[in-house]
Order: sequence, then C-alpha cells, then structure tokens
Amino acid sequence: MDKNSVSTINIIRPDDWHLHVRSGESLKSVVPFTARQCGRAIIMPNLTPPITTTQLARDYQQEVLNATPEPLKGTKKFQPLMTLYLTDNTTKEEIQEAYDSGIVFAVKLYPAGATTNSDAGVTDIKKCYPALEKMQLLGLPLLVHGEVTQSEIDIFDREKLFIDKVLNPLINDFPELKIVFEHITTADAADFVSEGSANIAATITAHHLLMNRNDMLVGGIKPHHYCLPVLKREQHRLALLQAASSDNIKFFMGTDSAPHSQNNKENSCGCAGMFTAFAAIELYAEAFEQAKALDQLEKFSSLNGPQFYGLDINTDTITLKRESWVVPEHYPLDDGYVIPLRAGQTIHWKIEI
Ligand code: DOR
Ligand code: ZN
Repeated sequence: MDKNSVSTINIIRPDDWHLHVRSGESLKSVVPFTARQCGRAIIMPNLTPPITTTQLARDYQQEVLNATPEPLKGTKKFQPLMTLYLTDNTTKEEIQEAYDSGIVFAVKLYPAGATTNSDAGVTDIKKCYPALEKMQLLGLPLLVHGEVTQSEIDIFDREKLFIDKVLNPLINDFPELKIVFEHITTADAADFVSEGSANIAATITAHHLLMNRNDMLVGGIKPHHYCLPVLKREQHRLALLQAASSDNIKFFMGTDSAPHSQNNKENSCGCAGMFTAFAAIELYAEAFEQAKALDQLEKFSSLNGPQFYGLDINTDTITLKRESWVVPEHYPLDDGYVIPLRAGQTIHWKIEI
C-alpha cells in the first residue's frame, strides 16, 4: 500500500528527544501538550538558575511530573528524562552521581552566550574534560548546541564552523563519547553526522524541516519564526528532510519546542524559540508527507531515538488522521500567552486521543 496516500497512520508512540518546558506556571501550561503525544521527553536544563546538579534535576523532574495530567502519569505513560547543564565547573563526581541517580539521561553543552539562558554555559570545552571523560566511560550522552559564539562569525555560518572548531577536536579527544548534535540546521551538519561513527547522532526539529529563512524574513520580519540555530537556506532544509527520512538510524525527533511569552517574542529584542509541542507529531507528519516518506516517520519519531539512548521503544501506538484543523491564535502561558507555530492557520494531520 502507498503510505503517502493513506488517511490514517498508526505508529509506535513517539518520544521528544529535545524539549523546553520552562518552570512554574509556564511549565504547567505546556507539559500536558507533550504528555498527550509522547512516551518520553528529554527535558532541557536551561532554566534560571540552570539545572547543574542531580538534586536540581530531581526537583525539576518532580515539577514536570506534578504538571502531567493524572491519567498520563507513571512509567508506562509520560516520563520526563532529565538532563544536566554542563558548566566549566561540572565535576566528574557530579557526573557519576547523575548517572547513578537513574533519572539523568544526558548532559547538555551550551557554549556560553549561544542562546537562551546560556550565560552559565561552557567558556572553554577543555575545562570540561574531566566531566567528558567520565561521561565517555559511563556512556552518558553529551547533547550539543552546535554553534560557535564569536561575535565576528556570521550567524548563518555558526553551525558549520562549530563542526571544525569544536566538534572535530572533541571527537578526536573522546572518540567513544556519545554525542547528539542537537537541532541541526545545515547540510553540513547532516553530512557530518551521516559520515560520523555510530556514537554520533542528531535531532531535527519539525520547524527546520518545514521552513527556510524566507519564512522568517520575506514580506516582513516574523518573530515567531525566529529560533536558534536560525532557519537556513532552502538547500539546507531539503538536506535535513532527506536525512530525517533516510534509512540512517542516527537522526531522530527532537522538537526544540521552546515557549516564550508573546511579549518576549514580539519585542525589539525578541527571544529565540518556536512553540510546536501542541502539534509536534502532526507537524513532522506534514514534513514527511512532503518528502513522500510517511513510511519513514515511525523510525524517526519512535525507533531511532530509543536505540541511540539504549532504551526500549514505547509499547503503545498513536493514530494520526488526515484532518485539517485551524491552530488557535494563542495558548495560555503563565499570566499571558504563547503564540504557537501556524497560529490561525491550518495543520493537515491530527492525532487521535
Ligand atoms: O530557539 C531556541 N530556543 N534555541 C535554543 O537553543 C534555546 C531555546 C530556548 O530555550 O528558548
Ligand atoms: Zn533547545
């Protein structure tokens, strides 16, 4: 049967391997969206202050669980997988404690100044070598925001340069370290991951599969299409779509859904991030359909990620129906609103709950 003309898709429940849920009231607003679609989500640690210790990760996990709607709670339902925020001062003892806790599944590298709440991030990767050595030994993955931060480097080149300046030397020094190149946005990154060893993988967002930089800049600046790494040229979008829908098991779903209030986005200095968790799998389905590769969606959304992390796949399935629906103009966030991707516009797939 031609999967690209079907009106219903049944796939193993997906996981989101890169998600921002913030904290406090904002967290309560956004966690249910992911909990109803995904079995698990890797929860990013870039809060203020950041999640730098296992104890903070434990408290944060509890906060996420408290915001998970009751019927979705528990090990067979939605599980938040916690991460630590790597700093210049993260010790190998902290890494061991995180690993032993059983609740920390990865450590996130933000180059200092690269993106939202990255001020406490890494200033010199060499300072992290004791922690990285321990992670390599334990098999604890390093999740990388892959952009250089030097002010003289053009923002559209920052990911490509990161490969040469940071990733290659890092891999040279830690050949066995499990690395996820997060939210890749360029053909260069896709090629780098495809050609790399089995311990190098990548997440790809739905928005980078669906949009290029024209969607942010043509016909007026669209602050809700601004994220980091920033949208790139069409040729890069096509390369990402090709990688995501290929047979290569190194690419998997990570929405990077990153809610910011409407005020903080529609601002003379707007924040980076798109809110997509409300329709994550539907947006990916649209992208895969466009690539005539709906039959590859399940591998990307539900199989490749667990395989890389050494976890079981989810045991239940979800159903997507070909059904057009109009995205609300906004969703509540804290005491204001978040503007979702495609606000007031149509999405062509719908998950059945
Ligand atoms: O667009 C982004 N938003 N990119 C990031 O790296 C961080 C994220 C956020 O936390 O808002
Ligand atoms: Zn992110």
